[in-house]
Amino acid sequence: MNFYREKRMAKKPASTEVAIHELIAGRWSPRAYSSEPVSRDQLRAVLEAARWAPSSYNAQPWRFVVFDRSVDEVAFKKAFATLVPFNQGWNAPAPVLIAVTAHTLTSKGDVNRCALYDAGAAAMSLVLQAHALGLAAHQMSGFDVNAFRTTFELPKDVEPIAMISLGHYGDVDKLDPVLREREKAPRQRVALAEIAYGGGWKKAF
Ligand SMILES: Cc1cc2nc3c(=O)[nH]c(=O)nc-3n(C[C@H](O)[C@H](O)[C@H](O)COP(=O)(O)O)c2cc1C
Repeated sequence: MNFYREKRMAKKPASTEVAIHELIAGRWSPRAYSSEPVSRDQLRAVLEAARWAPSSYNAQPWRFVVFDRSVDEVAFKKAFATLVPFNQGWNAPAPVLIAVTAHTLTSKGDVNRCALYDAGAAAMSLVLQAHALGLAAHQMSGFDVNAFRTTFELPKDVEPIAMISLGHYGDVDKLDPVLREREKAPRQRVALAEIAYGGGWKKAF
């Protein structure tokens, strides 16, 4: 079973300019899922990882809404329906969707300028923990934010930011040909020199 799982876990390590930790280099955004459920323990572990993210004033503005097909199929289908058609296509077998949301106001009612930043940090912890567990996780902005807000009756100050699909790696060859090619293509990033400046805007690091 372990061997089978290893075999299924497609790997696309980053070709880094400098050596970095495997957990970071090895995480990627797969689109080939199997329909095997994610265990409750695994779900609790990825949420726990998110919980320990840092945040401005330790405000912890993130809130995650978990849609587990094997626990509440009706709710799962409602969340799934908010995905854009492209994302619905490759997510058809995915067993879990997690909505990443954040309280955008502080307890005093002021705008929390860092709420989305903090929620993004928590989401990154979540997907890294998923990778550490051998699970596939894929973040998505392609969903109908207003439909999600209405369907799940979110409070006014809560912003739905992203959806994360979570599951076990599936068969890449079952994807349509275009996505299959993308799934196998190397991961790309702009050069380190383009994202890091030293001592001033656009000054070489
Ligand atoms: C906030 C966010 C939104 C994204 N939205 C989508 C999406 O709607 N659909 C999709 O297929 N991929 C989506 N992605 C995945 C990105 O395309 C992917 O992270 C990027 O191409 C880099 O690939 P990698 O994660 O494998 O390194 C999203 C990623 C992030 C972080």
